[in-house]
Amino acid sequence: MRLDHIAYRVKDRYKTTKFFEDTLGYTIGTEFQIEFDDESKANCLALVPPEVRHPQTNHWTHKVLMGVQREEESIKPEYHAPPEIFISSGPVGSIVGDWVAARGGIGGIHHIAYQCDNVADTMKEWKEAGYAEFLSDEPMTCPGLTQVFTKPSELTGVIYELISRKDKGFCVDNVKQLMNSTKEL
Ligand SMILES: [Fe+2]
Repeated sequence: MRLDHIAYRVKDRYKTTKFFEDTLGYTIGTEFQIEFDDESKANCLALVPPEVRHPQTNHWTHKVLMGVQREEESIKPEYHAPPEIFISSGPVGSIVGDWVAARGGIGGIHHIAYQCDNVADTMKEWKEAGYAEFLSDEPMTCPGLTQVFTKPSELTGVIYELISRKDKGFCVDNVKQLMNSTKEL
C-alpha cells in the first residue's frame, strides 16, 4: 500500500496551492469545476509532486526536486513517493463551502487515499475486521480507475479512500458522486 493522494477542502484554493508549489515543488496537474443539481459549484485542483511514475514499475522516480532537473540516467525507482494533492473550495451554500465553514472557515483534510492492488478485496477485509463502514456497497469505477470511500473513521475522524489506478487519481463523475454522498458528513 502507498499513500496515493491527500484531499483538502480549503477557503482559498489558490493560496493553498501556492503554499504547496513554493514549499514542496508541486505543480497544478488539472483544474476543473463540478456543478451540482442545485447549480451550486465546487472548484477543484489536482496537484502533482515533482516526481514521475517509473514506466515499468509503476512506482515513482525523481525527475525534478525543488526545481533542480536531474539527468535522465540518474533516475532510480522511488518506492516511497510523495502523494498527489487534491484541493477543492466552494462558496458558502455549496457542499464544499459549507464543509469549510463548519471547520472554522479554514477547512482541513477531507480524505486520505491509499493505493491497493485490489480495491474490492481490501474493502472486504476492512469491513470484515470492523475497521470501516463504506459510503457505497461497491467500488466506483471510471476507465483505469477504481475507488471506494469509507465513512469518517471512528478511530481517526478521517474518510479513507482505497484506490487502484492506471492514470488519473480521480474522475469528475466520481468526485461529484463522492461530494454528494458526503454532504451530511
Ligand atoms: Fe480522492
